[in-house]
Amino acid sequence: MASSSQARCVFLGAPGAGKGTQAKRVAQGSGLTHLSTGDLLREEVKSGSELGVEAKGYMDAGKLVPDQLIIDMVKARIGGGDSAIGESGLLAASGWILDGFPRTLPQAEALDVNLSGDNALTHVISFAVPEEVLMGRLTGRRTCLNCGAIWHVEHKPTSKEGVCDQCGGELTQRSDDCNEAIGKRLEVYRSQTTPLLAYYGDRGVLKEVDANRSPDVVFQELLTHMQ
Ligand code: AP5
Repeated sequence: MASSSQARCVFLGAPGAGKGTQAKRVAQGSGLTHLSTGDLLREEVKSGSELGVEAKGYMDAGKLVPDQLIIDMVKARIGGGDSAIGESGLLAASGWILDGFPRTLPQAEALDVNLSGDNALTHVISFAVPEEVLMGRLTGRRTCLNCGAIWHVEHKPTSKEGVCDQCGGELTQRSDDCNEAIGKRLEVYRSQTTPLLAYYGDRGVLKEVDANRSPDVVFQELLTHMQ
C-alpha cells in the first residue's frame, strides 16, 4: 500500500458525512493536496464567472452540476496551471485527496481516463453515516468566509458566535444547507453517487469508514486505511 504522502484518494459520502472536515485535517498533517469540487464551484460562483453563474442554480436546488462542466473543471486542475495545486497540476503533486468528485459513473470513468498507470487511484474511502444524522449536521454547519474552516453550532462551536476561531473571519451558512436543498442532495446522492460504491468495490480499492463517530475517532481510522 502507498504511504500516506503518496496516496491518491477519493473521499465518497453523502452530504454532511464529514468528507471536507476530514480531508482538510488529513491534508494538513500529511502534505496531501486537497481538491474539493464543491469548494471550486463556490469560488466560481463568488467570482461571477460563466461557470459560476451556470452552476449556482444547480447547487442552490441541491442538484448536481452537469457532468461535462465538472469534468472540464477537474481536468483543468489535473492537467496544470492552477495555483492552488501547483504549477503543473494535480499530477505533479506527490499525493492528493479528491473530495466530492467523482459522484457519477461518467465522472468516475473520465477520471480513470486521466489517471492511469502510476497515477491511478490508491484509495477510495466511503464515509458511512445514517441519513437521519445528516440533516442536523448540515443545518448546523457554519463555514468561515475567509479561511474555509468548517464549524458546527453544536458539534464544533466557535468560542464567539459567528466568528472563526482559526482566523477571526466571519462565519456563513451555505445557501444549499436549507431543508429543501438538503432533501434533494440526499436523493441525488442515493440515485447517482451510491453506484460508485460497487464500481470501486469491484476494483478492490474501496474502504468503508463508520463516520458516525467523533471526528477524532474517524480521523484515526482514516490514517490506518491510508498508511
Ligand atoms: P459539496 O460542497 O461537495 O457538498 P456535499 O457533497 O453535499 O458535501 P458537504 O460539503 O455538504 O459535506 P461534507 O461531507 O464535506 O461534510 P462536512 O465535513 O462539511 O457540493 C456542493 C454542491 O456542488 C453539490 O450539491 C453540487 O451541486 C455541486 N457539486 C460538487 N461536486 C460536484 C460533482 N462532482 N458533480 C456535480 N456537482 C457537484 O461536515 C458537515 C458538518 O458536520 C460540519 O458542520 C462538521 O463540523 C460536522 N461534522 C463533520 N464530521 C462530524 C462528526 N464526525 N461528528 C459530528 N459532526 C461532524
